[in-house]
Amino acid sequence: MTHPVLTALGLADNESGTYLGNSEWSKTADAGVLEPVNPTDGSVLARVQASSQADYDLIVERAQAAFKVWRTTPAPRRGEAIRLCAEALRAHKDQLGSLVALEMGKSKPEGDGEVQEMIDIGEFSVGLSRQLYGLTMHSERPGHRMYEQWHPLGLVGIISAFNFPVAVWAWNSFVAAVCGNISIWKPSPKTPLSAIASMKICNAALKKGGFPDLFYMFNDAGTELAQSFVDDRRIPLISFTGSTKVGRNVGERVAQRMGRSLLELGGNNAIIVDETADLKLAIPAIVFGAVGTAGQRCTTTRRLFVQDKIYDDVLAKLKTAYAQVEKKIGDPTDPANLMGPLNSQDAVKGFLAAVEKAKASGGTVESGGKALDDRKGNFVLPTLITGLKNEAEVVQTETFAPILYVMKFSKLDEALEMQNAVPQGLSSSIFTTNLKAAEAFLSAAGSDCGIANVNIGTSGAEIGGAFGGEKETGGGRESGSDAWRAYMRRQTNTINYSDALPLAQGIKFDL
Ligand code: UN1
Repeated sequence: MTHPVLTALGLADNESGTYLGNSEWSKTADAGVLEPVNPTDGSVLARVQASSQADYDLIVERAQAAFKVWRTTPAPRRGEAIRLCAEALRAHKDQLGSLVALEMGKSKPEGDGEVQEMIDIGEFSVGLSRQLYGLTMHSERPGHRMYEQWHPLGLVGIISAFNFPVAVWAWNSFVAAVCGNISIWKPSPKTPLSAIASMKICNAALKKGGFPDLFYMFNDAGTELAQSFVDDRRIPLISFTGSTKVGRNVGERVAQRMGRSLLELGGNNAIIVDETADLKLAIPAIVFGAVGTAGQRCTTTRRLFVQDKIYDDVLAKLKTAYAQVEKKIGDPTDPANLMGPLNSQDAVKGFLAAVEKAKASGGTVESGGKALDDRKGNFVLPTLITGLKNEAEVVQTETFAPILYVMKFSKLDEALEMQNAVPQGLSSSIFTTNLKAAEAFLSAAGSDCGIANVNIGTSGAEIGGAFGGEKETGGGRESGSDAWRAYMRRQTNTINYSDALPLAQGIKFDL
């Protein structure tokens, strides 16, 4: 029987994973099958037919043709297309939020929140469509005008991860679309149903509004198609969200063909709590940051540095809070639960291996540390570990699970140094009421991350800012601010309206 959450969105238990454009979903049935698993009980949710090489080639061909029309469509008109998508997503927020919760395993409010991010970036993109500003410059030559224009790139390839199965696509595809691009999406093989549902909702809205196909999608049963996607010279930009290991490979391959890549890779995010911090804010922020989405956000709080004077108090308060969370672990589609399962059995193995490694390195499990094997599904306990040094290998590594390493410091400089002493550089926070500490944390000598917050946690960034990080996080920026520039090419134009031909730099070249 088809799961009711799928039925509510018009999905069947055998779906095509390939959107070919022209309202056509591919009939390919011999390119392998994806079987997304319900992480709550281990059952297969539906079968998704993977794409063939011929499907892929047709998509690229059609996307190229669509780009020829879209690139000269006025940007505010492009914004109207995305406005319709955002409106359609708003109408389906509850159903799509439930599907994200079901298939990915995040809580229902977080699933809804993810759809809200799609709506928000959609609305942001509508405004953006009237603000793709370039600069004008003063030419050094008389009778000359100089300015710059931003033109679309062409096809944008999007490879997204299971943990944000739909929002990351919207960040990329909506901004790319108002910039005049056509996008091709390869979603995570773990969450193809949320992707198919999002495509259906947005494509129906575009069609109703009389717009061409802006979004294409394929699914890969193995890795061959994804690799040719990354190597495809017809796709000037590949936006990749996922692990540092895979992202490094994607970045290298795209660079090899002189393409552009936008990389959103691992994080190893820390919160610093100093002795002046307001713990009424700090404790819930730490718990949401470390436990929310069962520790499977790239912005998840993985390290906590607490000033020595308040260390015991903070640890005790966290243990109490974790005991509360333990009572609300369960089916993520039930809005009463705070924490769902991990997305896969492999993730449970990774969690258990990290706990063992932490213990072997001298760590103490203060809370959790176990998988819940009294029930089906991939449930684990949120885990607090003390007694490790920041240099410990397990602390330096991003384990995509709810494990928080709690460490002590006495001086802010020391905490800052530890916070920065990891290979990753995505998100960071300080909890303090000391203005000097807050400013030092945000200064050039402070956090080295792409995101640095004061008195809020590391996760749950708003779409209005540029999202991304430094070092092994990959350097990409998506979503708000001027992240749109990554989806466009800049052209510098100089126009001579005089009767002479003066050369720049005062060069004389008299014939
Ligand atoms: C991710 O985990 O890949 O800041 C993205 C956040 C979300 C996005 C996370 N807005 O936690």
